[in-house]
Amino acid sequence: MKDPSLREFHFTAQDFQLVCKLIYDHAGISLNASKQELVYSRLSRRLRATGIRTFSEYLKLLERNDAQEWEAFANSLTTNLTSFFREQHHFPLLAEQLKKIGDDRPIVIWCSASSTGEEPYSIAMTAVDAFNSFTPPVKIIATDLDTNVLETARQGLYALDRVEKLDEAQLKRFFLRGDGVQQGSVKVRPELQNMITFQKLNLLDATWPIRDKVDVIFCRNVMIYFDKDTQLAVLKKMAPLLRADGLLYAGHSENFYQAEAYFKLRSKTVYELSAQLKAVQTDKS
Ligand SMILES: C[S@@+](CC[C@H](N)C(=O)[O-])C[C@H]1O[C@@H](n2cnc3c(N)ncnc32)[C@H](O)[C@@H]1O
Repeated sequence: MKDPSLREFHFTAQDFQLVCKLIYDHAGISLNASKQELVYSRLSRRLRATGIRTFSEYLKLLERNDAQEWEAFANSLTTNLTSFFREQHHFPLLAEQLKKIGDDRPIVIWCSASSTGEEPYSIAMTAVDAFNSFTPPVKIIATDLDTNVLETARQGLYALDRVEKLDEAQLKRFFLRGDGVQQGSVKVRPELQNMITFQKLNLLDATWPIRDKVDVIFCRNVMIYFDKDTQLAVLKKMAPLLRADGLLYAGHSENFYQAEAYFKLRSKTVYELSAQLKAVQTDKS
């Protein structure tokens, strides 16, 4: 750990504890003691940007409910690691699920921690391939707490190293090569963008602006930042949104055994509704 006396800003154990409490209450993110340096470095940028000289003064600004700073504070403390077709094994299963539902009605997919967009665009590519059409009957709602990553996702512009694992056929079919100032990057085709609505959504909020019943929920690699009680509360709220035959896709190190009243494991990190909830949802449809 860096010698605290060499730090640009005074940062005490109490400051760190208060940061942990604020981000936990706001976004459900549990930070442990090993994250102290990370928190210092991420929030130091906010102190510089706001011209505030001490952490305690900065935290007072948050406690006064400065909405703009709350957004920047939360954006600073999220971890946004993602990639195209991450956890590849989910995508053939998704394609199979989409084909089984067919094209008689719109299919709704909620990508609930969409980060910089690689995940919802991978879902869109899978849908295009499944229906062999750039206008498949699929609507993707991509949400995240972090407004910076949502903006990146909306633009759909990626550096070449972000797409290097995609094969040549996928690159040709789904991306446009950047030119001019965008040289060295690729942009997802507008048809993929048209399938997706990006919006801010905090999984901890009491109500979510999801109006439709959904066929698919991607909730991958976000619950790892939540404790088990928070995970359970989120899963309890997700379950009634899912159609009887819907699927919930989770991240590789996540398991939801504590929520067996709502979700049952179907295959590796993929969940379906519990038998009881399936019956309820079937009655409603
Ligand atoms: C590690 S990324 C995972 C991205 C993608 N799902 C994947 O698996 O590649 C976690 C994302 O969860 C978002 N996140 C963290 N807390 C959240 C919350 N309370 N509500 C919604 N999104 C949240 C972060 O902003 C971040 O973009």
